[in-house]
Amino acid sequence: MTASTGRRRILVGVGGGIAAYKVCSVIRHFTEAGDDVHVVPTRSALNFVGAATFEALSGNPVRTEVFEDVDQVAHVKLGQEADLVVIAPATADLMARAAAGRADDLLTASLLTARCPVLFVPAMHTEMWEHPATQANIELLRQRGHRVVSPGSGLLACGMVGVAVMIIGGAVR
Ligand SMILES: Cc1cc2nc3c(=O)[nH]c(=O)nc-3n(C[C@H](O)[C@H](O)[C@H](O)COP(=O)(O)O)c2cc1C
Repeated sequence: MTASTGRRRILVGVGGGIAAYKVCSVIRHFTEAGDDVHVVPTRSALNFVGAATFEALSGNPVRTEVFEDVDQVAHVKLGQEADLVVIAPATADLMARAAAGRADDLLTASLLTARCPVLFVPAMHTEMWEHPATQANIELLRQRGHRVVSPGSGLLACGMVGVAVMIIGGAVR
């Protein structure tokens, strides 16, 4: 909770998937509800949506690397201070790194320091979703108490219909 305002503090982690554009409306939804939103995109995510968009939508600085703003110890505090972490889209790679306990960027480092509820919203091609490695990583994340949303089906980036498009709140496509 942001001490001075009592607003809910939400860390939105953005993975490098084509569905990254959909998280913009999710950020908007949180800020309109009065939440204090901090967006941490991965390096790959910035290929899909720029930091300026996330900064404008959230009203907060956007960082990706652990070596940015070192004096603020963001790699520890962002996770510690969050009331909720939402990872969307949760790519196969990002969930693998989270399951392995990696801390090689600001988002995965923050996941290690977060003690609040963590929600993963996966989005990927059907074969990536169905791969035993991905399913094992999801199982591990769930065993640790994280929520991993079950995907819906719909049109994928390649134009095919698949089982793993990102859904959040049942409506974001
Ligand atoms: C056009 C394009 C779309 C992609 N979409 C997805 C996707 O929807 N889901 C996914 O898991 N990976 C997707 N990828 C692959 C990821 O970008 C790649 O695995 C990357 O390493 C993920 O990085 P992250 O750990 O920062 O999310 C896509 C790659 C490209 C080039």
